Amino acid sequence: MASLDNANSQVYDSVKTYYGKVLESSKDLKTSACTAASRPPAKIMSIISKIPEPVTSKFYGCGNPIPLGIQGKDVLDLGSGSGRDCYIAAALVGASGSVTGIDMTDEQLETARNNISDYAQVLGFQPKMQFLTGYIEMIRQAGVKDESMDICISNCVVNLSPNKRLVLEGVFRALRAGGEFYFSDVYADSQLDDKVRTHEVLLGECIGGALFTEEFETMAREIGFAMPRVLSIAHIEIHDQELLQLVGETKFFSITYRLFKPNPTNGSLGSLDEVALVTYHGGVEGEESSYVLDIDHVFEKDVSAVVSADTARLMAQSWIAPFFTVESLSGSGAKAKQATPTTALMQQAYVDSRKSESSGCCAPKKSESSGCCPPKKSESSGCCPPKKSESSGCCPPKKSESSGCCPPKKSESSGCCPPKKSGPSGCC
Ligand SMILES: C[S@@+](CC[C@H](N)C(=O)[O-])C[C@H]1O[C@@H](n2cnc3c(N)ncnc32)[C@H](O)[C@@H]1O
Repeated sequence: MASLDNANSQVYDSVKTYYGKVLESSKDLKTSACTAASRPPAKIMSIISKIPEPVTSKFYGCGNPIPLGIQGKDVLDLGSGSGRDCYIAAALVGASGSVTGIDMTDEQLETARNNISDYAQVLGFQPKMQFLTGYIEMIRQAGVKDESMDICISNCVVNLSPNKRLVLEGVFRALRAGGEFYFSDVYADSQLDDKVRTHEVLLGECIGGALFTEEFETMAREIGFAMPRVLSIAHIEIHDQELLQLVGETKFFSITYRLFKPNPTNGSLGSLDEVALVTYHGGVEGEESSYVLDIDHVFEKDVSAVVSADTARLMAQSWIAPFFTVESLSGSGAKAKQATPTTALMQQAYVDSRKSESSGCCAPKKSESSGCCPPKKSESSGCCPPKKSESSGCCPPKKSESSGCCPPKKSESSGCCPPKKSGPSGCC
């Protein structure tokens, strides 16, 4: 593996030890930061249920950074770990696409590599998957050629890098024009002080290296990406009192961002300087009736929507362009919704998380013992009261199999399956 001869070797060693030796599965994590992901869409849950267990049990991601509609694409996963997201992507890109994971921790890579042949049996084709040993700051040296990837994904890894600019620059180079970095990570609403940045557990748990959103968005623009788009956001709870004292007032969020590398030769944009009319024509498997571009823009199939020139340009100049028509509305006087600033989204996510706690919704990890579960919110929050689980249709992600909790009727698509019932109920 190419080496990084800089002052950060201690950070790399500490992270490698944490993911290679200290953690054995996601049950060993001390905060919810690395498992703050909400339930992925049904299409992805059904793929997850078919991935070999050694791969899924070492999943430490904080989001769902897998775009749909990527058949035939070349996908790169930074910090692929045991490979769960690569295994999902392999099913989505099919036999004509490819998936490459990069990670620096041998134990994680071993799990990722060792389960490919079993997975090929499940898929019914030999997926083009490879797992490279290397640093996400040096993806070229790890063997990834410039402009060779359509999509880069990453799940809770960039925060662990002591040199995030190098990571973003490398991703920009590896992407083809029109490609996208679609990734979930941990962010802070202010600059972190040194005692948080250097704390070994906070660092390993994806909190200590969290990027201040403002700084990250500026960096992404400087490198050449279009204005970052927030796809989803969730406040991260820290329950450990000692860690809580260290972080003070700073709030942490799991955010899935979309960073598009514009293809200026794509799309006849004409006088696209004001608003534009965008129509989604379908064609993205799993998003047949509507397409979610970001938290502010959901396009219903065959329904035209007015968007800002920035949004129209971003769509017309990216890999998603074939699913849409984009027409200029210059001079029409029509008004478009602007993307909500990330600071406002963070405030809202924090308020929402406080409301759900006071409504009786349990915090992650406390849910089972407290028996707390708000009606209707249970499934998406991953909160589930013991004993009531089956009849309430409430099922905590990841715990479903062992807890025997499974929402009636939804079992197959949700990937949740009660032991013993699997046969007759047709679940999983
Ligand atoms: C929180 S885990 C996430 C793993 C995986 N993305 C998932 O969702 O399960 C972080 C992973 O990133 C890897 N990692 C952290 N910093 C890295 C770096 N600078 N270069 C390569 N891999 C790195 C670790 O080895 C670990 O496997």
